[in-house]
Amino acid sequence: MAFLAPSILSADLLKLEEQIAMVEKNGADLIHVDVMDGHFVPNMTFGPSMVKALKKITRLPLDVHLMVSNPMQFVEWFAAAGADYLTIHQEACWHLDRAVKRIKALNCKAGISLNPATPVMTVQHLLKEVDLVLVMSVNPGFGGQAFIPYAVEKIATLNQWRSEYKADFLIEVDGGIDVRTAKQALKAGADVLVAGSSVFNNGDIARACRALKSVIST
Ligand code: DX5
Ligand code: ZN
Repeated sequence: MAFLAPSILSADLLKLEEQIAMVEKNGADLIHVDVMDGHFVPNMTFGPSMVKALKKITRLPLDVHLMVSNPMQFVEWFAAAGADYLTIHQEACWHLDRAVKRIKALNCKAGISLNPATPVMTVQHLLKEVDLVLVMSVNPGFGGQAFIPYAVEKIATLNQWRSEYKADFLIEVDGGIDVRTAKQALKAGADVLVAGSSVFNNGDIARACRALKSVIST
């Protein structure tokens, strides 16, 4: 069974507590927190203080997606703030193996994310070490972009390698996920659906969550 991870990037920050309670009540399994530094991606968002605040208002695991240029500079801070999953970008990190070990030593689940154009083979040797691989299905930086179809192939390859290598990481997909694209991603083997604008910008958050959950359970 797959999991739903609403991304608070598209939430109304002035109603954050209320909106988190709403997704929690309507089937969210994780809360996805997009951290952007204005350097690795052309946008800026949240820091460890947001993670710390969220920890107080939700019982759901916090899935922290670090879109920053020097992730190792910040992992301690996010771990201390209460991140459950800490995902760094392959493209932002020279020593990925070391980084994964460091994140696990901080008692967080370790994730690696791949930009759309980054081939999955760049993380092939780490698949037995990581807890999660995040396949970006948009170019990171903004909510509300269109799903890039070739992400489906990447998910399928990871799914195949996972069984070949007897690995047990989760495959997460992030970007342009709605009921239609969720079906494609799930069919290819995705386990975690990140959804921002389709959950928070559709007028009815509860209904949007339930629609995605029903795709997951069919
Ligand atoms: C984009 C972020 C996503 C974003 C997805 O860089 O990593 O998590 O919130 O938003 P939607 O679901 O609107 O594409
Ligand atoms: Zn994200």
